[in-house]
Amino acid sequence: MTAKTNPPESRKPASPELLSRRAFLERVTFILGGIGTLAMSVPLVGYVLAPVFKNDVPKWRPVGKVGDFKVGETVAISFDNAAPLPWDGQTGKTGAWLRRNSETEFIAFALTCTHLGCPVRWMASAELFMCPCHGGVYYKDGSVAAGPPPKPLPRFETRINNGVVEVKTQPVAIQRS
Ligand code: FES
Repeated sequence: MTAKTNPPESRKPASPELLSRRAFLERVTFILGGIGTLAMSVPLVGYVLAPVFKNDVPKWRPVGKVGDFKVGETVAISFDNAAPLPWDGQTGKTGAWLRRNSETEFIAFALTCTHLGCPVRWMASAELFMCPCHGGVYYKDGSVAAGPPPKPLPRFETRINNGVVEVKTQPVAIQRS
């Protein structure tokens, strides 16, 4: 006759109390896992849906009265960007070079060089835009005069509205060849 041995602890049938504790812990783990997954997926969903709700509608911004600008002169202007946020402060502003070509014609050039995006400066005495980074030079009409810039300076649309010069704001991408 063989002696009966007790089954190991792990093979013992679980008591109803232990089962309910296990079920409780499983549920807690499931719920916490779900919350964690949800929290981690919010930025991903935001990233995917952001383009759908993007507010990139161009806007016309006043930059001054027509009489404020002299024919043949190019001056720096600043204005609110297309979609400023209340907390943007000064960073909600953008700028351009505005040239008055005639009584009714204004041209607004982007500040950024088409080579690698450095801000260009207007040299009134030479009537050239100069880029300090790699020596890019543009004529007064924004076309390339010398250096590495592959394209003319990008332009903003302009118009005269009730005696006020307005610039159409929109993102101006750096153009590459
Ligand atoms: Fe202007 Fe390079 S960024 S020349």
